[in-house]
Amino acid sequence: MCGIVARIGEGDDAVDELLAGLTNLEYRGYDSAGIAVQNGCGVGVRKRAGGIDDLRNALATDGPSGSVGIGHTRWSTHGPPTDANAHPHTDCDGDVAVVHNGIIENYDELRRTLSKAGHAFESDTDTEVIPHLIESALADGASPAAAFRAAVDRIEGSYAVAAVIGGREAVYAARNDSPLVVGEGESAQYLGSDVPAFLEFTERVAYLEDGDVVRVTPGGFTVTDADGERVQRTTETVDWDPQDTGKGGYDHYMLKEINEQPTALGRSVSGRTDPDAGAIDLDGFPPGTFEGIERVHLVAMGTSYHAAMYAESLLARRDVPARAFMASEYAMSPPPEEDGTLVIAISQSGETADTIGAVRAARAERTMVVTNVVGSSLTRECDDTLLVRAGPEIGVAATKSFSSQVATLSLLAERIRRDVVGSPSPDSRAFLSALSDLPDHVRRVVEGTAAEEVADAFTDSEAYFFIGRGPGHAVALEGALKFKEITYEHAEGFTAAELKHGPLALVTEDTPVFAVFNGSEGDTETLGNVKEIRARGGPVIAVASGDAPDLGDAVDRVLPVPATHPDLVGVLANVQLQLVAYHAAKRRGRSIDKPRNLAKSVTV
Ligand code: F6R
Repeated sequence: MCGIVARIGEGDDAVDELLAGLTNLEYRGYDSAGIAVQNGCGVGVRKRAGGIDDLRNALATDGPSGSVGIGHTRWSTHGPPTDANAHPHTDCDGDVAVVHNGIIENYDELRRTLSKAGHAFESDTDTEVIPHLIESALADGASPAAAFRAAVDRIEGSYAVAAVIGGREAVYAARNDSPLVVGEGESAQYLGSDVPAFLEFTERVAYLEDGDVVRVTPGGFTVTDADGERVQRTTETVDWDPQDTGKGGYDHYMLKEINEQPTALGRSVSGRTDPDAGAIDLDGFPPGTFEGIERVHLVAMGTSYHAAMYAESLLARRDVPARAFMASEYAMSPPPEEDGTLVIAISQSGETADTIGAVRAARAERTMVVTNVVGSSLTRECDDTLLVRAGPEIGVAATKSFSSQVATLSLLAERIRRDVVGSPSPDSRAFLSALSDLPDHVRRVVEGTAAEEVADAFTDSEAYFFIGRGPGHAVALEGALKFKEITYEHAEGFTAAELKHGPLALVTEDTPVFAVFNGSEGDTETLGNVKEIRARGGPVIAVASGDAPDLGDAVDRVLPVPATHPDLVGVLANVQLQLVAYHAAKRRGRSIDKPRNLAKSVTV
């Protein structure tokens, strides 16, 4: 949450590039935004509550200029989204400006000490202590670099922080438990909370480590580690296309990303399986990798947690004991240490604080992360990394990352099964062949969907329920999450059997129920549950493949998906539910890509 960008160059004005970076980072937080530009002698700051466009408008009439600057887009933690609480924050003289992502845990104590020493504060934020700490170290005679290091040494908590200091053609930055990457350009250098922040200017990136402090000048950057020792952080070239981070002609990133799922899935699966030979080739996980593993714990939050639940079903079908945990709960009370436990963290961003907490708390033999982001924090925390290769996801609502997570996890489940049980699962060739067909099946769903019509038919309902079994339960929860987060309507997911144990009391003719059929065992029981809903007047929309039982007139509508292996029907059903949520939100005029109160990357 919160996005940081910095541009350090010569000559050209930094403001346009900072605004471009902030626009690319806006998905991380969009309560308020600001920039500070170093103009050779002083620091000019502009900041506004609201989105990047509000800041852009403010700059159009009266903006600072300079070749070195920092920018920030905020998701509030300390204090409401006001002009005063927007970043950058400055010291007493306005000579030092700082942007920050994370939480300073000891800010209260620091603020009291600084106030007693005569520093004046103007915001409710924890961040504001940092420029005052730098100011006080400068006043004691420290050089800018030493003053920045002294400030960083006094703060506790999670931070990615960047500062400009009047008269210095440099940006000083540090990271601890919050992401920060350096972009190495030809005529300018960059810092960003993630690569898309500066991808249109350079594809050369260096990932910083926790504890790193970096000084970036127009000519390059130098890094010192937590002990103050000079260290090298290697620069690599990322292969993301800057076009991938644009809307590509779609009204919303979410719709673009839903449509990108065939390509994303193709990337997740390609080169990793040979259905004819029944082979799996997971980079870095050759046969035998998981010998000795006796149980799998899957830890994740939100949509990634639903992918974890889905994977739990896939592993169970393959006779591998597995359990999905909400990462925040796992972190609080991790299961006792036992030989043979593999913890798999699942995270699109690789930066989710709750999931990092779970990995740190885990008492496991091995940890691995299944993530979309190369070089993200979880890739450093875990023993191994498996990339889902979905490509950049900008819409706050996760879509293509879920499909790619499930596809990747399904391959991983089969790999683990072979190592743990000693043989492929009985229908593994059929599964691998269906996995190769998955991109095409998703394309057929996206092209032929009646989701808009269904969304339009139920615009005035009181609540929206989603039910399913096994992987279909994970999809029901995900369908409800997507629907509530972008429509702001009450939506809830249940196991199909759970309804009659309580939630059925909520069912009326004003509560449409989306029922996910897996195309396998359990569907007959789900049909029984659907009949119980209809008997109470509840409208039912089935999301079902041709392998589902004959639904006859037991349901009001059907959103069909192609018949495929039962392990993968849920991915197709989920695409239908993504599209229903999208159209329902669009009809209501919601802020689809940036729903209220949310941010994409939950790093606090
Ligand atoms: C919902 C959504 C969130 C994330 C969750 C975990 O659409 O995007 O629920 O899934 O915050 O994020 P990652 O996967 O980055 O760990």
